[in-house]
Amino acid sequence: MIEFKDVTKKYDNGTTALKDVNISIEDGEFVFVVGSSGAGKSTFLKLMMREEVPSKGTITVDGVVLNKIRKRKIPYFRRKLGVVFQDFRLIPTMTVFDNVAFAMRVIGTKEKVIRKRVPYVLSLMGLSHKARSMPNELSGGEQQRVSLARALANNAKIIIADEPTGNVDPQMSFEIVDLLMKLNENGATVIMVTHEHELVRQFDRRVIILDKGSVVSDGGPLVSDIVTANINSAAEESAEDITEVIDFGPDEIEAIPFEFDANGGDLQ
Ligand SMILES: Nc1ncnc2c1ncn2[C@@H]1O[C@H](COP(=O)(O)OP(=O)(O)O)[C@@H](O)[C@H]1O
Ligand SMILES: [Mg+2]
Repeated sequence: MIEFKDVTKKYDNGTTALKDVNISIEDGEFVFVVGSSGAGKSTFLKLMMREEVPSKGTITVDGVVLNKIRKRKIPYFRRKLGVVFQDFRLIPTMTVFDNVAFAMRVIGTKEKVIRKRVPYVLSLMGLSHKARSMPNELSGGEQQRVSLARALANNAKIIIADEPTGNVDPQMSFEIVDLLMKLNENGATVIMVTHEHELVRQFDRRVIILDKGSVVSDGGPLVSDIVTANINSAAEESAEDITEVIDFGPDEIEAIPFEFDANGGDLQ
Protein backbone atom coordinates (compact mmCIF):
# COMPACT_ATOMS: atom_id res chain seq x y z
CA MET A 1 0.00 0.00 0.00
CA ILE A 2 1.04 3.59 -0.61
CA GLU A 3 -0.20 6.04 1.95
CA PHE A 4 0.11 9.83 2.17
CA LYS A 5 -1.10 11.22 5.50
CA ASP A 6 -1.52 15.00 5.73
CA VAL A 7 1.40 15.51 3.38
CA THR A 8 2.57 19.00 2.56
CA LYS A 9 5.61 19.73 0.43
CA LYS A 10 7.05 23.20 0.49
CA TYR A 11 10.21 23.74 -1.54
CA ASP A 12 13.08 25.86 -0.22
CA ASN A 13 12.08 28.78 -2.45
CA GLY A 14 8.73 28.96 -0.66
CA THR A 15 6.57 27.21 -3.28
CA THR A 16 3.97 24.95 -1.71
CA ALA A 17 3.77 22.15 -4.28
CA LEU A 18 1.46 19.86 -2.30
CA LYS A 19 -0.86 20.72 0.54
CA ASP A 20 -2.50 18.40 3.08
CA VAL A 21 -2.63 15.43 0.75
CA ASN A 22 -4.31 12.28 2.07
CA ILE A 23 -4.23 9.39 -0.38
CA SER A 24 -4.22 5.60 -0.04
CA ILE A 25 -3.39 3.37 -2.98
CA GLU A 26 -3.90 -0.35 -2.47
CA ASP A 27 -1.60 -3.04 -3.84
CA GLY A 28 -2.62 -3.93 -7.37
CA GLU A 29 -4.43 -0.67 -8.13
CA PHE A 30 -4.03 1.33 -11.35
CA VAL A 31 -4.25 5.05 -10.68
CA PHE A 32 -4.12 8.02 -13.02
CA VAL A 33 -2.94 11.30 -11.53
CA VAL A 34 -4.03 14.29 -13.59
CA GLY A 35 -3.88 18.04 -13.29
CA SER A 36 -2.52 21.02 -15.13
CA SER A 37 1.12 21.99 -15.29
CA GLY A 38 2.44 22.98 -11.87
CA ALA A 39 -0.37 21.17 -10.02
CA GLY A 40 2.09 19.07 -8.04
CA LYS A 41 1.93 15.77 -9.97
CA SER A 42 5.68 15.22 -10.28
CA THR A 43 6.19 16.26 -6.68
CA PHE A 44 3.64 13.63 -5.63
CA LEU A 45 5.68 10.96 -7.46
CA LYS A 46 9.05 12.26 -6.22
CA LEU A 47 7.84 12.03 -2.63
CA MET A 48 6.65 8.48 -3.29
CA MET A 49 10.10 7.42 -4.52
CA ARG A 50 11.88 9.33 -1.76
CA GLU A 51 13.51 11.71 -4.19
CA GLU A 52 12.02 14.52 -2.13
CA VAL A 53 11.03 14.56 1.54
CA PRO A 54 7.77 16.06 2.82
CA SER A 55 7.73 19.24 4.88
CA LYS A 56 4.87 17.82 6.89
CA GLY A 57 3.02 14.53 7.12
CA THR A 58 3.88 10.86 6.71
CA ILE A 59 4.48 8.75 3.60
CA THR A 60 4.48 4.96 3.72
CA VAL A 61 5.25 2.84 0.66
CA ASP A 62 4.95 -0.94 0.83
CA GLY A 63 5.50 -0.96 4.57
CA VAL A 64 8.44 1.46 4.49
CA VAL A 65 7.93 4.72 6.35
CA LEU A 66 9.81 7.08 4.05
CA ASN A 67 10.15 9.79 6.68
CA LYS A 68 12.28 7.45 8.75
CA ILE A 69 14.27 5.55 6.14
CA ARG A 70 18.04 5.92 6.45
CA LYS A 71 19.97 7.21 3.48
CA ARG A 72 21.88 4.00 2.87
CA LYS A 73 18.62 2.04 2.75
CA ILE A 74 17.14 4.19 0.00
CA PRO A 75 18.67 2.22 -2.92
CA TYR A 76 17.18 -0.99 -1.48
CA PHE A 77 13.81 0.67 -1.07
CA ARG A 78 13.91 1.81 -4.70
CA ARG A 79 14.24 -1.75 -5.94
CA LYS A 80 10.53 -2.02 -5.25
CA LEU A 81 9.96 0.67 -7.86
CA GLY A 82 10.08 0.70 -11.63
CA VAL A 83 10.19 4.27 -12.87
CA VAL A 84 9.31 5.60 -16.32
CA PHE A 85 9.93 9.20 -17.35
CA GLN A 86 8.56 11.38 -20.13
CA ASP A 87 12.04 11.76 -21.64
CA PHE A 88 12.84 8.01 -21.48
CA ARG A 89 16.29 8.50 -19.85
CA LEU A 90 17.94 5.71 -21.79
CA ILE A 91 21.72 5.56 -21.85
CA PRO A 92 22.58 6.68 -25.42
CA THR A 93 25.85 4.72 -25.67
CA MET A 94 24.28 1.36 -24.77
CA THR A 95 22.19 -1.00 -26.90
CA VAL A 96 18.58 -1.67 -26.02
CA PHE A 97 19.64 -4.98 -24.47
CA ASP A 98 22.32 -3.33 -22.33
CA ASN A 99 20.05 -0.50 -21.23
CA VAL A 100 17.71 -3.08 -19.72
CA ALA A 101 20.55 -5.31 -18.50
CA PHE A 102 22.22 -2.33 -16.83
CA ALA A 103 19.32 -1.88 -14.42
CA MET A 104 19.90 -5.49 -13.34
CA ARG A 105 23.70 -5.26 -13.26
CA VAL A 106 23.72 -2.30 -10.88
CA ILE A 107 21.95 -4.40 -8.28
CA GLY A 108 24.34 -7.30 -8.78
CA THR A 109 22.17 -9.72 -10.77
CA LYS A 110 24.07 -12.69 -12.23
CA GLU A 111 24.74 -12.56 -15.99
CA LYS A 112 23.08 -15.94 -16.37
CA VAL A 113 19.82 -14.50 -15.03
CA ILE A 114 20.22 -11.34 -17.12
CA ARG A 115 20.62 -13.37 -20.32
CA LYS A 116 17.20 -14.92 -19.72
CA ARG A 117 15.33 -12.02 -18.23
CA VAL A 118 16.24 -9.26 -20.71
CA PRO A 119 14.96 -11.10 -23.81
CA TYR A 120 11.80 -11.94 -21.88
CA VAL A 121 10.94 -8.37 -20.87
CA LEU A 122 11.87 -7.10 -24.34
CA SER A 123 9.50 -9.64 -25.88
CA LEU A 124 6.71 -8.51 -23.54
CA MET A 125 7.19 -5.00 -24.92
CA GLY A 126 7.29 -6.22 -28.52
CA LEU A 127 10.94 -5.27 -28.89
CA SER A 128 12.80 -8.54 -29.44
CA HIS A 129 13.95 -7.44 -32.86
CA LYS A 130 15.42 -4.20 -31.47
CA ALA A 131 17.69 -5.73 -28.84
CA ARG A 132 20.87 -4.74 -30.67
CA SER A 133 19.69 -1.28 -31.73
CA MET A 134 20.93 1.91 -30.15
CA PRO A 135 18.34 4.25 -28.57
CA ASN A 136 18.77 6.91 -31.29
CA GLU A 137 17.73 4.32 -33.89
CA LEU A 138 14.30 3.97 -32.27
CA SER A 139 11.07 5.95 -32.47
CA GLY A 140 9.79 7.74 -29.36
CA GLY A 141 7.26 5.00 -28.73
CA GLU A 142 9.91 2.31 -29.02
CA GLN A 143 12.23 4.16 -26.68
CA GLN A 144 9.46 4.44 -24.15
CA ARG A 145 8.82 0.70 -24.42
CA VAL A 146 12.52 0.11 -23.69
CA SER A 147 12.19 2.22 -20.58
CA LEU A 148 9.12 0.17 -19.61
CA ALA A 149 11.12 -3.02 -20.15
CA ARG A 150 13.83 -1.57 -17.91
CA ALA A 151 11.26 -0.70 -15.25
CA LEU A 152 10.11 -4.31 -15.41
CA ALA A 153 13.52 -5.93 -15.42
CA ASN A 154 13.82 -6.24 -11.67
CA ASN A 155 10.23 -7.31 -11.12
CA ALA A 156 9.20 -4.04 -9.50
CA LYS A 157 6.05 -4.20 -7.39
CA ILE A 158 5.21 -0.59 -8.11
CA ILE A 159 5.46 1.14 -11.49
CA ILE A 160 5.64 4.92 -11.35
CA ALA A 161 5.26 6.73 -14.65
CA ASP A 162 5.54 10.52 -15.01
CA GLU A 163 3.83 11.57 -18.24
CA PRO A 164 5.13 8.49 -20.08
CA THR A 165 3.14 9.41 -23.18
CA GLY A 166 4.31 13.02 -23.31
CA ASN A 167 6.76 12.42 -26.16
CA VAL A 168 4.96 9.77 -28.21
CA ASP A 169 2.20 9.99 -30.80
CA PRO A 170 -1.46 9.37 -29.83
CA GLN A 171 -1.61 5.81 -31.21
CA MET A 172 1.53 4.82 -29.33
CA SER A 173 0.25 6.63 -26.22
CA PHE A 174 -2.70 4.27 -26.20
CA GLU A 175 -0.36 1.29 -26.53
CA ILE A 176 1.89 2.49 -23.72
CA VAL A 177 -1.09 2.76 -21.36
CA ASP A 178 -2.33 -0.60 -22.61
CA LEU A 179 1.04 -2.13 -21.71
CA LEU A 180 0.91 -0.50 -18.29
CA MET A 181 -2.57 -2.03 -17.85
CA LYS A 182 -1.17 -5.46 -18.67
CA LEU A 183 1.59 -5.05 -16.09
CA ASN A 184 -1.14 -4.08 -13.64
CA GLU A 185 -3.14 -7.20 -14.50
CA ASN A 186 0.00 -9.17 -13.70
CA GLY A 187 0.02 -7.73 -10.21
CA ALA A 188 1.99 -4.48 -10.35
CA THR A 189 0.60 -1.36 -8.73
CA VAL A 190 0.72 1.38 -11.38
CA ILE A 191 0.66 5.13 -10.79
CA MET A 192 0.63 7.12 -13.99
CA VAL A 193 0.73 10.88 -14.23
CA THR A 194 -0.73 12.46 -17.34
CA HIS A 195 -2.42 15.62 -18.44
CA GLU A 196 -4.13 13.90 -21.36
CA HIS A 197 -7.76 13.69 -20.35
CA GLU A 198 -8.67 11.86 -23.53
CA LEU A 199 -6.40 8.98 -22.57
CA VAL A 200 -7.86 8.78 -19.08
CA ARG A 201 -11.37 8.64 -20.47
CA GLN A 202 -10.51 5.60 -22.59
CA PHE A 203 -9.41 3.56 -19.59
CA ASP A 204 -11.88 3.10 -16.79
CA ARG A 205 -9.66 3.48 -13.73
CA ARG A 206 -9.29 5.53 -10.59
CA VAL A 207 -8.38 9.15 -11.28
CA ILE A 208 -6.84 11.50 -8.73
CA ILE A 209 -7.03 15.14 -9.76
CA LEU A 210 -4.54 17.59 -8.33
CA ASP A 211 -4.93 21.31 -8.61
CA LYS A 212 -2.52 23.81 -7.10
CA GLY A 213 -1.19 21.16 -4.76
CA SER A 214 -4.52 19.89 -3.47
CA VAL A 215 -6.49 16.77 -4.26
CA VAL A 216 -9.72 18.13 -5.76
CA SER A 217 -11.14 14.79 -6.86
CA ASP A 218 -10.47 11.11 -6.29
CA GLY A 219 -12.72 8.74 -8.20
CA GLY A 220 -13.52 7.28 -11.58
CA PRO A 221 -13.15 8.97 -14.97
CA LEU A 222 -16.74 10.21 -15.00
CA VAL A 223 -16.24 11.98 -11.72
CA SER A 224 -13.13 13.54 -13.18
CA ASP A 225 -15.12 15.00 -16.08
CA ILE A 226 -17.54 16.70 -13.76
CA VAL A 227 -14.86 18.00 -11.49
CA THR A 228 -12.67 19.28 -14.28
CA ALA A 229 -15.41 21.74 -15.11
CA ASN A 230 -15.27 23.07 -11.56
CA ILE A 231 -11.58 22.79 -11.08
CA ASN A 232 -10.82 26.47 -11.00
CA SER A 233 -13.40 27.39 -8.40
CA ALA A 234 -12.31 24.46 -6.25
CA ALA A 235 -8.72 25.55 -6.52
CA GLU A 236 -9.46 29.08 -5.40
CA GLU A 237 -10.81 27.72 -2.14
CA SER A 238 -7.60 25.84 -1.43
CA ALA A 239 -6.00 28.88 0.12
CA GLU A 240 -2.27 29.21 0.38
CA ASP A 241 -1.70 28.78 4.10
CA ILE A 242 1.80 28.89 5.39
CA THR A 243 2.59 25.41 6.55
CA GLU A 244 4.58 24.18 9.45
CA VAL A 245 7.98 22.83 8.47
CA ILE A 246 9.25 19.86 10.39
CA ASP A 247 13.00 19.49 10.85
CA PHE A 248 14.64 16.45 9.34
CA GLY A 249 18.14 15.39 10.31
CA PRO A 250 20.94 16.14 7.85
CA ASP A 251 20.69 12.54 6.66
CA GLU A 252 17.12 13.01 5.63
CA ILE A 253 17.19 16.42 4.10
CA GLU A 254 19.47 15.67 1.20
CA ALA A 255 17.42 14.52 -1.77
CA ILE A 256 19.06 11.84 -3.84
CA PRO A 257 18.47 12.07 -7.58
CA PHE A 258 16.79 9.03 -9.04
CA GLU A 259 18.92 8.25 -12.05
CA PHE A 260 20.52 5.35 -13.77
CA ASP A 261 24.14 6.24 -13.36
CA ALA A 262 26.41 4.90 -16.07
CA ASN A 263 29.35 5.12 -13.67
CA GLY A 264 27.94 2.31 -11.58
CA GLY A 265 26.81 2.80 -8.02
CA ASP A 266 23.43 1.70 -6.86
CA LEU A 267 20.94 3.92 -8.66
CA GLN A 268 22.32 6.90 -6.74
N1 LIG B 1 12.76 21.64 -6.99
C1 LIG B 1 11.84 22.60 -6.91
N2 LIG B 1 12.09 23.76 -6.29
C2 LIG B 1 11.16 24.72 -6.20
N3 LIG B 1 9.92 24.64 -6.72
C3 LIG B 1 9.61 23.50 -7.37
C4 LIG B 1 10.54 22.43 -7.52
N4 LIG B 1 9.94 21.44 -8.22
C5 LIG B 1 8.71 21.88 -8.50
N5 LIG B 1 8.49 23.11 -7.99
C6 LIG B 1 7.26 23.90 -8.06
O1 LIG B 1 6.24 23.15 -7.41
C7 LIG B 1 5.02 23.24 -8.12
C8 LIG B 1 4.58 21.84 -8.53
O2 LIG B 1 5.51 21.33 -9.47
P1 LIG B 1 5.40 19.87 -10.09
O3 LIG B 1 5.20 18.90 -8.99
O4 LIG B 1 6.57 19.68 -10.98
O5 LIG B 1 4.05 20.00 -10.94
P2 LIG B 1 3.51 19.18 -12.20
O6 LIG B 1 4.33 17.92 -12.32
O7 LIG B 1 2.07 18.93 -11.89
O8 LIG B 1 3.66 20.08 -13.39
C9 LIG B 1 5.27 24.18 -9.27
O9 LIG B 1 4.90 25.47 -8.88
C10 LIG B 1 6.76 24.09 -9.47
O10 LIG B 1 7.27 25.27 -10.04
MG1 LIG C 1 5.46 17.15 -13.88
